Amino acid sequence: MNTTQTTKPQEWLLYCRPGFERDCLQETQASARTADANSGFIIIEGKPRLQYAQLTFARQLIMLHKEVNNLPDRDRLTPLLAAIPDTPQKFGTLWLETPDTNEGKTLSAFIRRFQPLLEEKLRASGRLLDDASLPRLHIFFPDKNRALIGTSEPRNSANAAMGIIRMKMPYEAPSRSVLKLAEAFEVFLSDDEKAQWIKPGMHAVDLGAAPGGWTWHLVQLGMQVVAVDNGPLKGVVAEHPSVKHLRQDGFRFRPKNPVDWLVCDMIEQPARVAALVSDWVATGATTRAIFNLKLPMKKRVEALGEALAGVRAVLDKKGFKYRLQAKQLYHDREEVTVFLAKLKR
Ligand SMILES: C[S@@+](CC[C@H](N)C(=O)[O-])C[C@H]1O[C@@H](n2cnc3c(N)ncnc32)[C@H](O)[C@@H]1O
Repeated sequence: MNTTQTTKPQEWLLYCRPGFERDCLQETQASARTADANSGFIIIEGKPRLQYAQLTFARQLIMLHKEVNNLPDRDRLTPLLAAIPDTPQKFGTLWLETPDTNEGKTLSAFIRRFQPLLEEKLRASGRLLDDASLPRLHIFFPDKNRALIGTSEPRNSANAAMGIIRMKMPYEAPSRSVLKLAEAFEVFLSDDEKAQWIKPGMHAVDLGAAPGGWTWHLVQLGMQVVAVDNGPLKGVVAEHPSVKHLRQDGFRFRPKNPVDWLVCDMIEQPARVAALVSDWVATGATTRAIFNLKLPMKKRVEALGEALAGVRAVLDKKGFKYRLQAKQLYHDREEVTVFLAKLKR
């Protein structure tokens, strides 16, 4: 027999990289209902509001409405349809999702089969429309017999199924790191911001550039790049006319003229990298930056908090208006990526 239990409205379902459940929970400062290690998700309560953009470790932010247990193998459709909440009345998207774990991957064939059946029923009843501004309906299967049903607001969540922006590895790129920078631009910038802030002919500096994945991506975007690294650049960027390779210490290098972008992927203490980047922005050497912070094994939230507090302290002292956002991207492992931009007053 299947049991359907109603959950309290302020419960949230968050997806995260497996192994980062504690970090994901810690930064929300909420109480955990579920935060099993390596499960790839947490359920929290006691927070009426959460802002997706301010969460680093959450890949997705979902208001949890219902939980259905003991789904029968023969007919999952009937109990799931019965459990879909009455409000919101209409949805813009239906996403059937699983944790990003090996167990989750075993459910992908089932999800693919099941999606059109459920979609057809929801469309027939007028509840599923093709309107990206409407709330999304998420049905999350921790396993084949259990479903968590929730909704996300397009303005306060990730616009990608499972919270994962999938990217194809470009054939020519010298390293897989290219995917991190490409994903960062997608995650942090709106379409308008991309059009305004990424333009051919812009100038960028890449600190810790070798073997050259990030430099390659910037060159693809039409930028002129100074790539700073004692190590060699590989592939097309090694000889590219838009790339100037300097074998220098990335912590000492400063450009003669201000640049549009600073990117930095040096493996160093998070606080040291954050201090370096905030100094570039504070002194006007760059307007925007994307940088990677390698996190320690323990106290990751604290190390990140300290690094970001350092950035805020420097820029607040200057009286700058700025945007600072950190995310553990899909392509980040024991690390997070940070976006910092000085804004016009
Ligand atoms: C993770 S790799 C960068 C990968 C690169 N983003 C890509 O897409 O190919 C880190 C690089 O930082 C460089 N690095 C570390 N400390 C540095 C320093 N003080 N100055 C310059 N480069 C440094 C290393 O030589 C290494 O090539």
